[in-house]
Amino acid sequence: MKIVRFLDNNGKFIIKNPENYSGLYFPVAQNKGIKSAITPNLGGDTKKNQNTFILEPVSVENLNNNKGVRNFWVKLDNKDDAWSAVGASAKQEYEKFTPKQDESSLEAGFMFQEVTRISKEFKLTSKVLSFAPLGDPVEIMYVTLINNDTKEVTFTPTTAIPVFARSADNIRDHRHVTSLLHRISTHESGVYVKPTLSFDERGHKKNDVTYFVCGFTEDGVSPVDFYPTIDDFIGEGGSLISPRTISLNSRGVKIGTIIEGKEALGGLHFPKKTLGPKEECSYIVIMGLTENDDVESIISKYKTKELVLKAKEEAVSYWNEQVNVNYYTGNDQFDGFMKWVSFQPFLRRVFGCSFLPHHDYGRGGRGWRDLWQDCLSLLIMDPSGVRQMICDNYGGVRIDGTNATIIGENQGEFIADRNGIARVWMDHGVWPFITTKLYINQTGDVDVLKEGVSYFKDEQAKRGTTLDKEWNPSYGVKQKSNEDNVYKGTILEHILLEHLCAFYEVGSHNHIRLRGADWNDALDMASANGESVAFTAAYAGNLTSLGDLLMTLKNKYGWNNVSLLSEIKELLFIDNKVYDSIEEKTNVLNSYLSKCSHNISGTKVDVDIKELADDLYCKANWIKEHIRKTEWISKGDDGWFNSYYDNNKQKVEGYFDSGVRMMLTGQVFTIMSGTALDNQVASICKTSDKYLYKKNIGGYRLNTDFHEVKLDLGRAFGFAYGEKENGAVFSHMTVMYANALYQRGFVREGYKALSTLSDNAMNFEVSKIYPGIPEYFDASGRGLYHYLTGAASWYMLTFITEVFGVRGDYGDLSISPRLVKEQFDEIGKAILSLTFDNKKFEITVINESKLDFNEYKVKEASIDNKNINIKGNKAIISKDELNKLDNNLHKIVITLGN
Ligand code: G1P
Repeated sequence: MKIVRFLDNNGKFIIKNPENYSGLYFPVAQNKGIKSAITPNLGGDTKKNQNTFILEPVSVENLNNNKGVRNFWVKLDNKDDAWSAVGASAKQEYEKFTPKQDESSLEAGFMFQEVTRISKEFKLTSKVLSFAPLGDPVEIMYVTLINNDTKEVTFTPTTAIPVFARSADNIRDHRHVTSLLHRISTHESGVYVKPTLSFDERGHKKNDVTYFVCGFTEDGVSPVDFYPTIDDFIGEGGSLISPRTISLNSRGVKIGTIIEGKEALGGLHFPKKTLGPKEECSYIVIMGLTENDDVESIISKYKTKELVLKAKEEAVSYWNEQVNVNYYTGNDQFDGFMKWVSFQPFLRRVFGCSFLPHHDYGRGGRGWRDLWQDCLSLLIMDPSGVRQMICDNYGGVRIDGTNATIIGENQGEFIADRNGIARVWMDHGVWPFITTKLYINQTGDVDVLKEGVSYFKDEQAKRGTTLDKEWNPSYGVKQKSNEDNVYKGTILEHILLEHLCAFYEVGSHNHIRLRGADWNDALDMASANGESVAFTAAYAGNLTSLGDLLMTLKNKYGWNNVSLLSEIKELLFIDNKVYDSIEEKTNVLNSYLSKCSHNISGTKVDVDIKELADDLYCKANWIKEHIRKTEWISKGDDGWFNSYYDNNKQKVEGYFDSGVRMMLTGQVFTIMSGTALDNQVASICKTSDKYLYKKNIGGYRLNTDFHEVKLDLGRAFGFAYGEKENGAVFSHMTVMYANALYQRGFVREGYKALSTLSDNAMNFEVSKIYPGIPEYFDASGRGLYHYLTGAASWYMLTFITEVFGVRGDYGDLSISPRLVKEQFDEIGKAILSLTFDNKKFEITVINESKLDFNEYKVKEASIDNKNINIKGNKAIISKDELNKLDNNLHKIVITLGN
């Protein structure tokens, strides 16, 4: 029997005794900024941002160590001990794994969880529902108690939730001193904490935020009295899992009490209650924060059972509607997994790359590449705002092709780096075009390329190699021309600059320099001499696609010229013999950069689109040929591409005394870009299977074990082997490997990479995670850094556009399935539901004879029972035909046969 079972088509699942597994946490959040991580025992934390944590911030280790949870105690009149309805008492801890352990189960769907717990000894059942309503900055805990006894039972419930009420920085920095700022007060329905000041990286400031824990019975009756401080609640020598107040059922303080300078507790002592056999009662606990001193008006919206359950339904429907894709492959475990994968990009938009227990770094923002990659899934689920997002994000590109690295809270807001620390990730130029290309294909909106967008400007100049001393904050963060006007160039120009500047920035093997790092953030110790062959190939792939795009603009849309910044000519139409010379390339780049290190001319030139495309093709082909000539490693049947050069200018991969060194990244991008020839792709697959593949931990690892702390490449090699960027099965790269293989027609191989990941994720005995894709699987196959990963967007995209083959082609809808036979149900059916061009589609692929991908063709295709054009192996619905469709669901049937 599966440990995790799905209960509906919206990803709702159930798991028994979840507290018997370490490190489980569930994300709950909403649109008002509340972000929570909740464990099966109601541990975890809640916050709005780095500086406003309602509950104490937790890292994954704290999930074992912290005793302070969202506790809910039940003290029976006829018993000395008290029972924790969330399973967090010393006694329950002690009785874990014994026959006395409570029976428990957790059910969860998007942004809510409910834990049911049954105590044999206390003859009580609790159901604790956690969610965050849409409209207010609160998390709600709705606790139901059921009397399982044949007799009446009388008890006193108390909720006890430690309130941190300050910045995450204060967990170690002045934890005690900041408790002295607390002003704690008791009110009709709860405990408020309003610190006098806030201490954080911005200094000491008057604080306006009130944190609160309030509660009522299901009919809106307030607590009798309160325990507003941890000290008084636990009593001398007590603890949060064995508080003395609870066992003594002693009186708390009354309304109107004010306490200064203590660690606070949302301790709400509810009225005594008697339940007959099988009777139940419920309690509402609301924890939140506000800057407007309007706690009363917020909590009044959740004062009764009906109001709370309605708010929960609204929140759940909202999130279910956001994930407007559905998958049916006849394997309910996989289909449920895909639902969560599709939800994960929303989680990353809310949580950024911080704020879940493994993600105990950063201050909530997302990085440049994450910004762009998260757009990929939005293009499928909610494309409405993507055009604007694309335009705004290009405003982060500098005129030298690098980009802002400090990203503001609002879309399109980029912040000047005033610490003079230049950090250039050499892969950053690759992602915007990948997203823009998908956008153009999904929508047919080629005009987006003509949009005028400003460039980002700060003190960093010449690709972060020097400072622009003429710049100061009064200049602003937008590039100006010599006339002192903010300069705007087209999006196409931004894309060109990202690629052209990178093309010329090469190291001693004539590959693009690694600089601060590439996609692999942890290859960060080779900035002087490192080179990334992997991403040089990725740039080449983009240059080819950009050439193709330009030719389509000419041939299909009638564009002849494009208007570009005149300085860009320095980088174009250069005799390609120059490409062989590192020195000449560097000179070309420097000549351009020196013209753009402060202001630019602001003048434009018209460039012939075909000549431009040819120039890009020439550059792309030069790179590909160069990599093929210099980086192929082979011996016997082995064959693969070297991915990097280290800071000592040495090839990183090959046959070493310590063993074979092979990395996945170089394979992914040589395959994706078309650098690897078909026979090379086949060799790479075999070699990856030999050195990198480990089925029972999720599949393809990021690298082999180098047995060396490679200080001339990056901190990754300081990590234990098999963890994170040192040889884990790093989901994002594995999914991109699959994507690349599908793009090249290596379907079975791509399927292997995708399915080993999902099989492992859904094999709870090994992965120990709730459904979804984690950032990586460690050496034992356990999933870590769950939920917040770019792998989710890529998995979803690959599954829809490559596996189901449902994709936009300059606005037309093209369908060309490459499902393998295992991806159909027992009668040979697979279904994908999604929106495209704002219309709803259900696409059923029928493969009655259960043929494999290389045995079938698209035989027939229909939409609402009318035939669709089939070209080659693709069913195509043109943009014009799409425009004629109404907003009802349209049923497409694709019949496969040989
Ligand atoms: C994370 C980061 C991503 C980085 C990657 C490898 O990956 O978010 O920017 O490229 O580590 O260092 P993720 O799991 O989010 O895809």
